[in-house]
Amino acid sequence: MRVKRIKAAGIIFCISILFLCDCGIQSPSSVDKIHIGVAYYNQSDTFLNELVDCFKEQINELKDDGSSVTMTLRAASGSQRTQDDQVKELIDAGCNVLCVNLVDRTDPSEIIDLARENNVPVIFFNREPVTEDMMQWENLYYVGADAKQSGVMQGELATEAIHANHWIDRNKDGKIQYVVLEGEPGHQDTIIRTENAVDTLKNNGIELEKLSCGIANWNRAQAQNRMVQIINQYQNKIELVLANNDDMALGALDAYKKLNFTETDFPVFFGIDGTNAGLEAVLDKKLSGTVYNDKEGQAAAMAKLAVEVVSKDGTKTDALDNDKYIYLPYSKVTTDNVNNFLNEPDASSD
Ligand code: GAL
Ligand code: CA
Repeated sequence: MRVKRIKAAGIIFCISILFLCDCGIQSPSSVDKIHIGVAYYNQSDTFLNELVDCFKEQINELKDDGSSVTMTLRAASGSQRTQDDQVKELIDAGCNVLCVNLVDRTDPSEIIDLARENNVPVIFFNREPVTEDMMQWENLYYVGADAKQSGVMQGELATEAIHANHWIDRNKDGKIQYVVLEGEPGHQDTIIRTENAVDTLKNNGIELEKLSCGIANWNRAQAQNRMVQIINQYQNKIELVLANNDDMALGALDAYKKLNFTETDFPVFFGIDGTNAGLEAVLDKKLSGTVYNDKEGQAAAMAKLAVEVVSKDGTKTDALDNDKYIYLPYSKVTTDNVNNFLNEPDASSD
């Protein structure tokens, strides 16, 4: 009996020691458990879907390397109210870092307040909040790209094409008749891309005549509709289409096909993003060029930063501007180099 009692006490003692040890090991590593909540503005945006896919690949890589990372994804169907609710749910579900692609980039206050109350850092991406909002709390970050650079590069691509191909000026009046297709009004990439593409062409000595401008909210079908109206007005007078993204450039092309124009009456089209469809269209010479929006780089920067802000060991990537911002560079894409981008190594493979 006595022996049994001693044995039982011994077992309890060992279990307690094990338990204590286990707690001792677990507590530091529990800080490193990363639950990332990702919220993005709209599930029908081509570039965002491709960027989110790259981010998932980054997370899988971290898992393969033995990190304890989980990710929960929510898309907001273009409603800021919906996104605010989704962010609340993500925080309630235990996310300890958020990656947020705002619906309304001027309205992040509710998300910032929720995050600050719960001490959950936020990495905004792709839709840049205004500086005053970014300054509201030290644990707010932004990962994206420099809109101005993409506009300048699109202008350079168009300049190079116009210099090299005199047929682009179809009516031979020494001017390029052009149309702009714009993304959402108020988006940092809309105004800045248009302005810089047009200014770059002018600064390079290209004489321009603006025929029309349409808003198509980054969307291929909307761009097609808008472009059908514009073509009905200007017929074969349009020589150049500058679109704020690839989907809208492809939508413009769809409009010419729908109206059964012969290819000799097509203008030249330029996009931005280098989406899968955009790159294929450059390869097929349907788009004259695009500007690569480095989704692999942005996804990798977000994943790295998410790990760093949760780990709290103080080390932050040295790529942070003003302790908050990471801007990945764009690149010009034409038929000459498109294969480098089509073969872009899959972010999840070594
Ligand atoms: C831009 C991109 C667009 C669209 C938009 C959404 O950077 O070029 O295609 O995805 O972001 O915010
Ligand atoms: Ca002309």
